[in-house]
Amino acid sequence: MNQSELKQVAAERAALFVEDGMTIGLGTGSTVFFLVEAIARRIKEEGLHIQGVATSSRTANQAAELGIKMLDLNDVDHIDLTIDGADEIDKHFQGIKGGGAAHTLEKMVAINSTRNIWIVDESKLVPVLGKFPLPTEVIPFGCEQVFKRLEAENLHPHFRLDADGERIRTHNQNFVIDLHMGAIKHPHLLKQFLDSEVGILEHGLFLDLVNTVVVGTQDGAQVLD
Ligand code: 5RP
Repeated sequence: MNQSELKQVAAERAALFVEDGMTIGLGTGSTVFFLVEAIARRIKEEGLHIQGVATSSRTANQAAELGIKMLDLNDVDHIDLTIDGADEIDKHFQGIKGGGAAHTLEKMVAINSTRNIWIVDESKLVPVLGKFPLPTEVIPFGCEQVFKRLEAENLHPHFRLDADGERIRTHNQNFVIDLHMGAIKHPHLLKQFLDSEVGILEHGLFLDLVNTVVVGTQDGAQVLD
């Protein structure tokens, strides 16, 4: 199986965690694409009644087109379960997200969820976080000063650019600065620093948030918890 097929294996297994009556957080990315399809299929075939909260307009549009009832995060009193992709996960289930620049909305949905599951192909499991550049979302006002402070901390910042060389914009019209720092030996200390940096709206270090990881492997889906 290729990487895309492994993502599909993980997504389809994770869709089985969805139960009738649940409010479900839906992440963003190519793995979540398969998840949304699988949940929509279950709704059709089994008559499940669920409602979703999306972490991006991409996911919201796909889910709504497939007939999943979608709500705004502001309009729900709880989320039972959120299922999302990830860019890297270590053995303690700490992770990096934001490859699709949706990490701020993804983290907001995750922290408001009773249970969080990540779905990945096996290449995303790593011994140490940091090979994947760590995304941050920065507000445009004063972002050059934020960039300089990140440089001074040796975090190797790069503004994320689109195919035309323009700085990409997030859902909130902010910029993304990716930190190419290599191995993250002390993720909690790094989180503390990034949380306290004025001008950084959010970052893609997701620590102590996830209960279960579903991995697509050549031998099928593996549920780790
Ligand atoms: C988007 C994310 C994605 O979940 C992450 O990038 C994984 O994406 P994919 O499933 O396409 O590999 O964090 O911001």
